Order: sequence, then structure tokens, then C-alpha cells
Amino acid sequence: MSKISIIIGTMLGASEYIADHLESILNKDHQVTTVLDPNLDQFDLSDPQLWIICTSTHGAGDFPENIEPFVEQLQQQLPNLSNIRFAVCGLGDTSYDTFCNAGITIDQLLESLAAVRVHTLNKIDILDDGLPEDNAEAWLNLWRENI
Ligand SMILES: Cc1cc2nc3c(=O)[nH]c(=O)nc-3n(C[C@H](O)[C@H](O)[C@H](O)COP(=O)(O)O)c2cc1C
Repeated sequence: MSKISIIIGTMLGASEYIADHLESILNKDHQVTTVLDPNLDQFDLSDPQLWIICTSTHGAGDFPENIEPFVEQLQQQLPNLSNIRFAVCGLGDTSYDTFCNAGITIDQLLESLAAVRVHTLNKIDILDDGLPEDNAEAWLNLWRENI
């Protein structure tokens, strides 16, 4: 059983649906929490854990407001995240030049802080047919055995 935080960045709720879906799959085998107002202080960084970041992109490639303070804490405090394993599920719209930029940015930021990527970034296009939750589940199934 692993300790998992699913950290959400959302403006309109779509990424929260994805997070809730992943949580419903993972909570059978793991201790899972979804986090809608992430704050670095709430995590014990000495404790090995997995972070799944589910974030959309807004503005011109920006983070949703609810996750912005967390990203700023990471950028300013530069914590050592070597006990954190992570995977990022981005949500965006390919009609924007800055498709999934928030997901790309936090994926690189976590790696730069020594967190260990357990699977490659997923970029879900809201214009694709099919439910974003199904896309996210297929992505999770590629690596959940390794959690
Ligand atoms: C004002 C606005 C700006 C957006 N900017 C981007 C963007 O820069 N890049 C991108 O990939 N998607 C962009 N999107 C698309 C959203 O990421 C997409 O609608 C997503 O499903 C929203 O998810 P959420 O409900 O979790 O916030 C934008 C959407 C809106 C309404």
C-alpha cells in the first residue's frame, strides 16, 4: 500500500473529475487523498509518497488559480523532493499554442527538484472524442503495477 496524493489544478472542474476517477481506481489498494487546495506545508517530504498531478491549462499557458500558490512555493522554496515519486496528467485544448503547458511545466519542475518520474506526462486533448477520464484510466493502467 502506497501513500498517494492526487493534486488537482482546475478552473472548470474537468480535471477534478479525472482526479476523482483515478482516486476511485487506486483507493482499493492504496491510501489516496485528492487535494484541491495544495500547500507545500501539508506534505511530509521526508515520507516516501507518490504525487499524481492532474492539471488543466488556462489563460495563455497558465496554471489554474487553485494550484498556482503551490507551484510558486515549489519555485521559491526549491524543496528537495527526492522522496517523492510523481506522474502528471495534463488536460488542455490543442487549439491553443500552449497546449497542456501547465502540465509540461510542473512535470519539468518536479524533476528539477529531484522528484522521480514514474511515468511520462499524459496530455489529454479536450477536443478528442471520448471521455478524459477514460484516457486517464488507460494512462494509469500503463504504470499502476509499478506503484
Ligand atoms: C480562458 C481559457 C483559456 C485556456 N487556455 C488554454 C491553454 O493555454 N492551453 C491549453 O492547452 N488549454 C487551454 N484551455 C482549455 C482548458 O484547459 C480545457 O477547457 C480544460 O478542459 C479545462 O479543464 P478544467 O475544467 O479542469 O479547468 C483554456 C480554456 C479557457 C476557457
